[in-house]
Amino acid sequence: MARILSGIQPSGTLHIANYFAMMKPMIEYQHKNELFCFLVNYHAMTSSLDGDRLRENTIEAAIDFLALGLDPDKAYFWVQSDVPEVTELTWVLSCHTSLGLLERSHSYKDKVARGIVPNAGLFTYPVLMAADILLYKAEIIPVGRDQKQHVEITRDIAIRFNALYGNVFVIPEPRISEEVAVIPGTDGQKMSKTYGNTIDIFEDEASLKKKVMKIVTDSKTVEEPKDPETCSLFALYRLFADTERVERMRDRYLKGGIGYGEVKKELFGLIRDYFQPFRERRDRLSRDRGEVIRILKRGAEKTRALAQETLGQVKKVTGLDYDSI
Ligand code: TRP
Repeated sequence: MARILSGIQPSGTLHIANYFAMMKPMIEYQHKNELFCFLVNYHAMTSSLDGDRLRENTIEAAIDFLALGLDPDKAYFWVQSDVPEVTELTWVLSCHTSLGLLERSHSYKDKVARGIVPNAGLFTYPVLMAADILLYKAEIIPVGRDQKQHVEITRDIAIRFNALYGNVFVIPEPRISEEVAVIPGTDGQKMSKTYGNTIDIFEDEASLKKKVMKIVTDSKTVEEPKDPETCSLFALYRLFADTERVERMRDRYLKGGIGYGEVKKELFGLIRDYFQPFRERRDRLSRDRGEVIRILKRGAEKTRALAQETLGQVKKVTGLDYDSI
């Protein structure tokens, strides 16, 4: 049983790229692994400061995970800030992290290049992420390609720490799923809140239809043969259709004779039906937020016991345990 850990920022409504890249694989891992899945609300603060929205997004993201099948009895499922030990460890790790390591972060440099005025939290984001991972001695970290460097930074910090004090931390491995690495949005760019091109998981039917209908394609006529490999519509279609259907659609693309409008109609139906079984549970949980909060608090309690154990070891080797003399 491998210990697998990953988190997601509650920074907006979760969309189908979040689902296929992170939520679905995580929910599958819970059966054969020790799964740690959490909502990183401290990380979300590095890019947006809006209390009402953070509160709302956190609970909504929890509802989505539970509705889609995350089982809080099987997995560790919690909200990052409910385990305050993570911020204590972040400080200790900060003092073991060279500035240069953080200055080389692509994600940070990209954000600055896009004109974002960084706060100190954005700069030390990878240290908080390292604390997330090391606190639970996680072995495998499934992340998108854009997060790979953050896991490498975590490894660097852990290796350095262990070299100083002995093997306190487990050195984690990133696991990148290439297959779902880039899921296109309605405009053909990578699906992302930043680009405003998302299709939400629990989109209502009318707006789902509208969004699918506006997915950008080239302007080939019905008769013309089309290239499935470069078509965003096809890339989305293959996430929802079974293999047989995908192959049939690929043939129709290559031969010509199918219009994008028809593909869109089919895709709309596939997306709607795919998430339909989860809607009922989602509605029930939405009406009982008290229950959702209880689940999260129980999850935090279970997780916290492990966090305290690791933090205790860290305090001991670093000499913060002055009271043990
Ligand atoms: N930085 C990750 C992201 O934005 C989220 C995250 C925070 C995370 N802590 C983590 C992912 C620990 C994996 C492990 O996608």
